[in-house]
Amino acid sequence: MFVLRHWKKCSVALLGAVAMAGLIAADAPDKATPSVSASSPVEAGRYLVRIGGCNDCHTLGYDQSGGNIPESQWLTGVPVGFQGPWGTTYPTNLRKFIQTFTADQWVQVMRARSARPPMPWPSMHAMSDQDLKAVYEFIKSLGPGGEATPAYVPPGQEVKTPFIVFVPQMPATQPAK
Ligand code: HEC
Repeated sequence: MFVLRHWKKCSVALLGAVAMAGLIAADAPDKATPSVSASSPVEAGRYLVRIGGCNDCHTLGYDQSGGNIPESQWLTGVPVGFQGPWGTTYPTNLRKFIQTFTADQWVQVMRARSARPPMPWPSMHAMSDQDLKAVYEFIKSLGPGGEATPAYVPPGQEVKTPFIVFVPQMPATQPAK
C-alpha cells in the first residue's frame, strides 16, 4: 500500500515537472538556444537571412542568379505562387510586412505563427529571440521597398499569376519491350 501511495505521489510530481519543462521550453526557447554574435544586430541579421535561405523564396531571381541580386532588392517578395494541397501561397514582401511591428511584436508573431507551406516555420520557431530580433533589425534597415505580394488563394479558386506546382509525380510506367 505504501509503495502504491508513494508511487502515486511520485508520478504526480513527475507529471508536474514534465509539464513545467514543456512550458519553460515553449516560453523561453532562447535560454538554451545558441545565437549569432556579430558586430551589430543588423550584421547578425544579414548573416542569418543569408544562411537561412530567406532570399531563395522571398527575393525574385535570387536562386536563378546564384544569389547575385543587390541587397536593395532583397526580400521584396515574389509574385509567383507555390501551389499544393494548401492552395497557392506567395513569398511575402517582408520589407513591407515588417513595418507594422516593433521588434518585440515581431518575436511574438514569429513564435505564434505557423501558416502554410513551403515557408519553413519550424526553422523560424527554432531561432532564439536574439536571432529573431537580429533578423528584424536587418530587414527593417533595408526600408519598405517593392510592391505588395498577391494574396493567398485557397484550394480550388482561380489563380491569376504564374505558379509552381508542388505535387509529387509518379514516373510514367515503361512500355513493355
Ligand atoms: C521555401 C520557400 C521559403 C523560404 C526558404 C522562406 N520563406 Fe518565408 N514564406 C514563404 C511563403 C510561400 C510564405 C507565405 C505563406 C502563406 O501565405 O501562408 C512565407 C511567409 C513568411 C512570413 C509571414 C508573412 C505573412 O504575410 O504572414 C514571414 C515573416 C517569413 N516568410 C519570413 C521568412 C524568413 C525570415 C525566412 C528565412 C529564415 C523565410 N521566410 C524563408 C516561403 C519561404
